[in-house]
Amino acid sequence: MKKIMIIAIILTGIMVGQKSELKNVKVLPFKTKRELVSFMKTVVAPELGVKCNFCHNMTDYSSDEKDHKKVAREMMIMVQQSNKTMNKLNFHEISCWVCHRGSEHPEHTPKKK
Ligand code: HEC
Ligand code: HEC
Repeated sequence: MKKIMIIAIILTGIMVGQKSELKNVKVLPFKTKRELVSFMKTVVAPELGVKCNFCHNMTDYSSDEKDHKKVAREMMIMVQQSNKTMNKLNFHEISCWVCHRGSEHPEHTPKKK
């Protein structure tokens, strides 16, 4: 009986702690907030050379009110699609860095928009 209770408490903890933690995550594959935030801190923000507030309303990270966040989500889809090709070719996966190189606006070739 005790064991069942403990398992029930752990399961509830996992469900409450993980599922409802992420409110508006449509593209990224992470299941926990910890993994997702780690990706934001080590990949998304530094590879664009920006802080969290470039994309986020700092009082509600799930809000989509900033255009930069909406663009970033489309970029994430683009990167996922590119990585299907990269995997097929047995190449390393790409991330934002391949184009952005630490800048919010990647350079285009000279004279082109
Ligand atoms: C370049 C834009 C960008 C930057 C910078 C950024 N994020 Fe995000 N973040 C996103 C996008 C886009 C999503 C939603 C991804 C999806 O839909 O799969 C997201 C989702 C999140 C979520 C999930 C919110 C929810 O419950 O829906 C958290 C938490 C979060 N980011 C934290 C951070 C933190 C902390 C930083 C700074 C270290 C940061 N982000 C920097 C674009 C960004
Ligand atoms: C294949 C190259 C490429 C990759 C990979 C890429 N981007 Fe971009 N991104 C661009 C280009 C080019 C622009 C600028 C568009 C323009 O102004 O013509 C841009 C613009 C943006 C902007 C808008 C910046 C602004 O100042 O308005 C955001 C936000 C962004 N990218 C986020 C991301 C994120 C996050 C990733 C990784 C998940 C990513 N990008 C990966 C090429 C790329």
